Amino acid sequence: MKDFDGKVALVTGTTGIGLATARRLAAGGAAIIACGIDRAANAAMKAELASSGAEALVMDADVSVPDQVRGAVAAGVERFGGLDIIVNSAAVHPYGTAVSTDFDTWNKAMSVNVGSIYLTAHFGIPEMTRRGGGAIVNVASVQGFACQQNVAAYATTKGAIHTLTRALALDHARSGIRVNSVSPGSIRTPILEKAARGDHGSDADVEEAYRRFGEAHPIGRIGEPEEVAELIAFLCSAKAGFCTGADYKIDGGLTAGIGVK
Ligand SMILES: NC(=O)c1ccc[n+]([C@@H]2O[C@H](COP(=O)([O-])OP(=O)(O)OC[C@H]3O[C@@H](n4cnc5c(N)ncnc54)[C@H](O)[C@@H]3O)[C@@H](O)[C@H]2O)c1
Repeated sequence: MKDFDGKVALVTGTTGIGLATARRLAAGGAAIIACGIDRAANAAMKAELASSGAEALVMDADVSVPDQVRGAVAAGVERFGGLDIIVNSAAVHPYGTAVSTDFDTWNKAMSVNVGSIYLTAHFGIPEMTRRGGGAIVNVASVQGFACQQNVAAYATTKGAIHTLTRALALDHARSGIRVNSVSPGSIRTPILEKAARGDHGSDADVEEAYRRFGEAHPIGRIGEPEEVAELIAFLCSAKAGFCTGADYKIDGGLTAGIGVK
């Protein structure tokens, strides 16, 4: 018996940590409902999960749009019979100060990064409650604790995710629903690659930036999406039955010290 046999998991974001998590949960026997706006990534995920023999419904869906989240939850429940797990990994990462960030960009960050977690909870928790419980894991960031400069909107969303995680955990604990967040440091995914490449960077520039980012972490390297997926899978599993309302850092020691190399 695998750890997620008979479970149905909704995962937002179809690249990076979302993709690694969908793979991990599917390998554990879960049926996957995945939502993303990157159509090419969605098609690749669909093909990969199908060829691995997993049950999966991969949908082109914008997780900041209520009807699209409602539709994804409904389609998944109809196909697989219910919902047990939600992993919220989709996000945008705008750069800017409060002065240089325009209001549309600010609102988009709030609605994609935080609003989507409200929406998956709003439509998903009633389904989880019908099953007698479940688990939600929200992907936050170390930026929710100690942020860099020029990421005002992004960092704000990550702090909000920590708070929303606690609120959801308290409100739904007696329904058997556990809610936690994970806060990664730098992880090798498309979001980090974009930061590493800048406007015109080469692949060598990206690797050099990854090395530099890694140096900032006491452990001396950046993390891999599979490492984050493994922590998420643990929090989704029955082994984490007493874990709720908490954040779990996975940052190579980044936030353990002050200016430590
Ligand atoms: N990679 C890192 O260094 C790092 C560090 C800390 C936190 N995180 C967080 O990890 C999570 C996953 O990011 P990642 O690193 O895998 O990068 P990623 O860019 O691969 O993943 C983000 C995904 O969100 C999707 N997305 C964006 N807007 C969407 C929308 N409106 N509707 C549906 N999907 C949408 C993107 O298409 C992409 O697939 C994010 O919440 C990110 O903030 C990443």
